Amino acid sequence: MTVQKTSGESLRHTEGKEDREGEERQDGQERQQRQPNSQSNSRPNRQPNIRPIQKEPSQPTLQLPDGTAMPRLGMGTWHLAEGQRPESQEIAALQTGLDHGMTLIDTAEMYADGMAESLVGQAIKGRDRSKLFLVSKVYPHHAGRRFLRQSLEASLRRLGTDYLDLYLLHWRGSIPLAETVECMEQAKADGLIRNWGVSNFDTADMKELFATPGGDGCAVNQDLYHLGSRGVEYDLLPWMDAHGIPLMAYCPLAQAGTLRNGLLSSPVVRQIAAAHADQGITPMQVLLLFVLHRDDTIAIPCTGSSEHMLANLRVQDVTLSTDEMAALSRAFPAPTSKVPLDMQ
Ligand SMILES: NC(=O)c1ccc[n+]([C@@H]2O[C@H](COP(=O)([O-])OP(=O)(O)OC[C@H]3O[C@@H](n4cnc5c(N)ncnc54)[C@H](OP(=O)(O)O)[C@@H]3O)[C@@H](O)[C@H]2O)c1
Repeated sequence: MTVQKTSGESLRHTEGKEDREGEERQDGQERQQRQPNSQSNSRPNRQPNIRPIQKEPSQPTLQLPDGTAMPRLGMGTWHLAEGQRPESQEIAALQTGLDHGMTLIDTAEMYADGMAESLVGQAIKGRDRSKLFLVSKVYPHHAGRRFLRQSLEASLRRLGTDYLDLYLLHWRGSIPLAETVECMEQAKADGLIRNWGVSNFDTADMKELFATPGGDGCAVNQDLYHLGSRGVEYDLLPWMDAHGIPLMAYCPLAQAGTLRNGLLSSPVVRQIAAAHADQGITPMQVLLLFVLHRDDTIAIPCTGSSEHMLANLRVQDVTLSTDEMAALSRAFPAPTSKVPLDMQ
């Protein structure tokens, strides 16, 4: 990964691919040895070891391994605070979400070189901190004894809070997992974070993490998952379900459908949207409903528009039927053999 927060160079709009190349080659080798498992493909909403959705006043939640309730729908922040819109509009969009009960915000020290965290800080200012669920991420090259605490404290300052609900290793780098785990556990013991997790980890990474002392303290894995990219369903999600680790699905809208041709124009997606049009569902929301249909998944769509935020909130009142899920699966099947972890 070439992004250097401290160097001031402009951000690449790709997260982590370079550092992952070696591991993807390993995955490829593993793939050749593995037999296809068609069973994992036939259970789009498998019942995992993760407690099912609990309907709280307005927000569905799931339980993290330590029993903490985590909202299942949150707000992403990548590409906010990059000047695409006036900051006031982006702050208003986040506040629209907050006002309507969306309390989970996902950010990272990387996003807009810390400015996304500052934007979130402005959006949450004056709110009851105990009602928020704030997630941030540490760069891989900061995820060790030398820099993690410094990175974490800088994130806390920008967010205007004294703790994170969840702190994630953004993707794997060269710092040993054992050292990252030790630093995460120390930050937790010191009250600076409530839970820690990882991101862009494939099955082999998760196994390695869990074989590391303290690694089974990991609370979530944040990976790319959308209707057009279902590789995680092959062996990663079954492994995570068996270990009680929820998936935080990033790019749940396939970046407004741009990550896969034909998603939003798919006749099946459009038919399902039309069937729920009276509930304000559009093809974009069908993508979100697909991700949220799994009990073990949290979705963090990003928008800098209040109008889009309200549209995304509408999914909370809708559930896709078994027939609708089956139709989506026929149109966009999950792979029947291992594919490298998809990333943005
Ligand atoms: N861990 C990682 O490595 C990683 C990588 C990528 C992303 N993430 C996290 O996941 C979040 C979500 O991923 P993402 O932002 O890449 O992609 P996304 O949420 O799938 O899509 C975002 C795009 O969808 C548009 N959009 C949102 N709601 C819409 C609606 N109702 N109607 C029409 N367009 C809509 C947004 O534009 P508008 O602003 O115009 O609405 C934006 O262009 C990120 O923000 C970030 O927090 C993590």
